[in-house]
Amino acid sequence: MSDDRARRPAGAPRTTAVQRVLDAHAEQLRATRGRALRVLDLGGGTGGTAVPLAVAGHELTVVDPSPDALFSLRRRAVEQGVEQRVRALQGDADTVGALVGPEAAFDLVCLHGTLEVVDDPGAAVGAAAALLAPDATLSLVVAQRLHAVLSNALAGRLERARAVLERPDGRWGEEDPVPRRFDEPAVVALVQEHGLTPVHVQGVRVFADLVPSALLDSEADRAALLALEEAAAQAEEHRLLGSLGSALHVLARRG
Ligand SMILES: C[S@@+](CC[C@H](N)C(=O)[O-])C[C@H]1O[C@@H](n2cnc3c(N)ncnc32)[C@H](O)[C@@H]1O
Repeated sequence: MSDDRARRPAGAPRTTAVQRVLDAHAEQLRATRGRALRVLDLGGGTGGTAVPLAVAGHELTVVDPSPDALFSLRRRAVEQGVEQRVRALQGDADTVGALVGPEAAFDLVCLHGTLEVVDDPGAAVGAAAALLAPDATLSLVVAQRLHAVLSNALAGRLERARAVLERPDGRWGEEDPVPRRFDEPAVVALVQEHGLTPVHVQGVRVFADLVPSALLDSEADRAALLALEEAAAQAEEHRLLGSLGSALHVLARRG
């Protein structure tokens, strides 16, 4: 087992703080519009974000270049009985406009874990922003640099920690499985450059990848970890904690 996997708690929850905020925001948008939302999930993969939104009644378009991911997405949608509300398209985030057509407009566009892997994050955000209807929202989830600095340092991988801190792409080397990591100010600037206004900026999943799995051997421990994550995500007066989260969640509105 790799060092990374050994340190990751078994059964660590998906980032529940992201899901909770996204669900609440989608409900708010649905109430404003008086109908289910048209949602575009760019780099939606196997549907971890998209399928729960379809279960909530929204109409999903998922774009991903991976046929395997789209196959799993379709299977997951069928299992949940929402295949009629999930459209799966093979393609890239930065050329999605050509795929969905010039008239397409979405109430919510998700780029979760996608900006790390695309060729050009600016082009991907630009393509996403261009498909937002008036008063629609872009939801971004990206890997944060500082978390990787800390987790590598705590694991004794000090040269990697320093590389993550100093390299512009936030990687510890060519073997790093994450192609790039982000800093909050750069992400905020990126959405603003495309005419969007950030309305929610929160670092999440602060502890789950730092606590060794050996220290989390009971359901009670895992529940306590989840409660700690939730408390950290909501501690507005301790925003520093959010900067240390493994992911940054940004909701940005088109005015
Ligand atoms: C880390 S996964 C995230 C999956 C999903 N959004 C989630 O949060 O679980 C990254 C996804 O981006 C997809 N991807 C890779 N290159 C892409 C591109 N140029 N445009 C859109 N998606 C891409 C991958 O196939 C993969 O499904």
